[in-house]
Amino acid sequence: MCIGTICDIEVKIKMAVFPALFGLLMASLVTGQLVDITPREAVRRVGDELNVLCKVSYSIDSCRMTVGNTPYRLIPSQQDGEVVYAGQGLQFGECGATIKNIREDWNGNITCVLPPQSGNIEVQATMRLVVARPPSSPQLRSPQEPAFREGEELRAQCIVPDGRPVAKITWLLDEEQILRGIHQPIVTTEGDLQTISQNITLPLTADEAGKMLTCRAEHEALDQPREAKRQLVIHYPPKSLESGTITIFGLKLGSEGRLNVTVRANPPPRPEWRFGDTTLEPSHSNDMGTITALEPIHLGSGYYNLTLLLPRITKEDVDRKYYLRAINELGTEDFTVLISTMDEPAGVELDTGAIVGIVIAALIAVAAISLLVFAKATDRWCFAGRSHRTDIPDGADSEAPLPPHDDVKGAENPTHDHGEYISNGDTKHPEKKPDTAV
Ligand SMILES: *[C@@H]1O[C@H](CO)[C@@H](O)[C@H](O)[C@H]1NC(C)=O
Ligand SMILES: *[C@@H]1O[C@H](CO)[C@@H](O)[C@H](O)[C@H]1NC(C)=O
Ligand SMILES: *[C@@H]1O[C@H](CO)[C@@H](O)[C@H](O)[C@H]1NC(C)=O
Ligand SMILES: *[C@@H]1O[C@H](CO)[C@@H](O)[C@H](O)[C@H]1NC(C)=O
Repeated sequence: MCIGTICDIEVKIKMAVFPALFGLLMASLVTGQLVDITPREAVRRVGDELNVLCKVSYSIDSCRMTVGNTPYRLIPSQQDGEVVYAGQGLQFGECGATIKNIREDWNGNITCVLPPQSGNIEVQATMRLVVARPPSSPQLRSPQEPAFREGEELRAQCIVPDGRPVAKITWLLDEEQILRGIHQPIVTTEGDLQTISQNITLPLTADEAGKMLTCRAEHEALDQPREAKRQLVIHYPPKSLESGTITIFGLKLGSEGRLNVTVRANPPPRPEWRFGDTTLEPSHSNDMGTITALEPIHLGSGYYNLTLLLPRITKEDVDRKYYLRAINELGTEDFTVLISTMDEPAGVELDTGAIVGIVIAALIAVAAISLLVFAKATDRWCFAGRSHRTDIPDGADSEAPLPPHDDVKGAENPTHDHGEYISNGDTKHPEKKPDTAV
């Protein structure tokens, strides 16, 4: 019986110890008890080199290594050929090989065979050599229509077929890696080649519009990652960035005025300006030709500058209201634009300035008062001329070393990978795993 924390600990110990013991047992059964082989697994490209070392605790007088289907007899003094002896010497129980110029058909097991310590049955150990083979190009698939509405969710699948070992997939939006909405990858094996597929669900907003969704495949046998891309087309109705009523400040009677409103929309917004009983579309002027609606200017990322141009502002222009309706296939957004001949800061910023001033003045007053009270209480007023050293018993004290801080690093949590989502990362570098016996 176990309760609470104790139970947890007990379970954890069991979970940790059992596989370790089991592994040890399996290792000794499989490798014939005595032979230690390193590495246990390696990934190499065709043409690469690999060192494999088998070791026993007694002196040996022969050393054999099976690479591909060929058994090689390894003799320390003979260093010619593709598979040659490596190690400190047979007398140290070392039977190692330098395998040069790795060939595709050597993908598979490499086994060393050594004489036994006693008896006449040879002992052996096996490692796995994965000769990397680049996967085919990644494929990015989505069952959905090419254009999305804001608020919809993109569901896509990336498949990287036939790699050895399995390829690694990362997702990017433009150049930024996507970490959320990535599903667990699924790996299927056919022969000795592996295909990985991974799904993604991505909620779509105006911020994703126009961005490039990329599935990037990385692999040991590729110098450059391979990518499959798709540009996200997302439609949304016009959106205002400011409240419905906009005041354009600082315009002067008799000079040019530009009433500009920034609107975000995709497809592009069509502006419709209305004032008095005039309605203007872009590139059109009113009857007198005094006011012109300009074509929308794309500012990037779906933002548009919609402008009404008044070449000479009259008193009448200042007095009326301008109504702007931004329209696209998905909706409309309405604005009211007012003209002011005052400078913008006049209203708002003087207020802020005044508040800041008052606060600062109050702070100064409080500081002065507390200083006065403090000075009086400690009788410092009279010693104001002296240096502060006389007031503090010993200046050196304050310079005493601080107590050592706790080891901050020890308290840090190890950063975890993003859980099961990115677990395929491990499979990429099997040779980097500890080479020790399990
Ligand atoms: C390679 O060795 C492993 C055990 O180390 C064994 O299970 C597997 O069958 C071997 N493969 C071949 C092709 O001999
Ligand atoms: C991934 O997406 C594809 C196509 O959208 C679907 O057929 C498959 O079931 C999905 N797999 C998982 C694990 O969600
Ligand atoms: C008008 O254009 C200026 C300059 O680009 C910009 O700072 C201002 O925010 C715009 N006004 C509106 C209401 O979009
Ligand atoms: C928007 O239009 C106004 C008026 O045409 C112009 O003054 C302003 O510079 C424009 N803003 C940008 C960012 O182009």
